[in-house]
Amino acid sequence: MTTVSNPVRVLMVCLGNICRSPLAEGILKAQAAARGIPMEVDSAGISDYHEGDPPHRGSIDIARERGLAIEDQRSRPVRPGDFRHFDWLIAMDTSNKNALVHMAPPDFDVGRVKLLLDFAEFGPRDVPDPYYTGGFGEVFDLISAGCAGLLDHLGVAPGE
Ligand code: 4NP
Repeated sequence: MTTVSNPVRVLMVCLGNICRSPLAEGILKAQAAARGIPMEVDSAGISDYHEGDPPHRGSIDIARERGLAIEDQRSRPVRPGDFRHFDWLIAMDTSNKNALVHMAPPDFDVGRVKLLLDFAEFGPRDVPDPYYTGGFGEVFDLISAGCAGLLDHLGVAPGE
């Protein structure tokens, strides 16, 4: 069985770390705080296309509408040390998940990479990328459902 850190450490991952995973970081932090669960939450991108950039305007605006401030976040790529540091690496879509598994060191337990929406009870498995299609409100709702399910599963070790 894999042991997890206390507090649990979660890295939210999408392609650019400007649209979906910054929302996931902000939403999970807020939901964990509301439940009184101490957690370390960060986000990163598979790519470094937007390294140093703030979140997309659409993500900042929908977050603000829903009462969250995410504008101080800055995009960064996934780093090798993330696979050691974080208990869970949570991918926004299947392509991100496959990329994480591909990037992981050889001794890494791939059971620690999950799709966010595997924790949601219904709906799609992938969070659609609003960078291409818009729809930030729907994306916010999907990510919220995934984060709530993720928090419900805390205490279950990755891979179980
Ligand atoms: P994200 O969206 O992965 O949700 O941050 C994207 C942002 C930027 C790009 C692709 C997806 N891009 O190709 O620059």
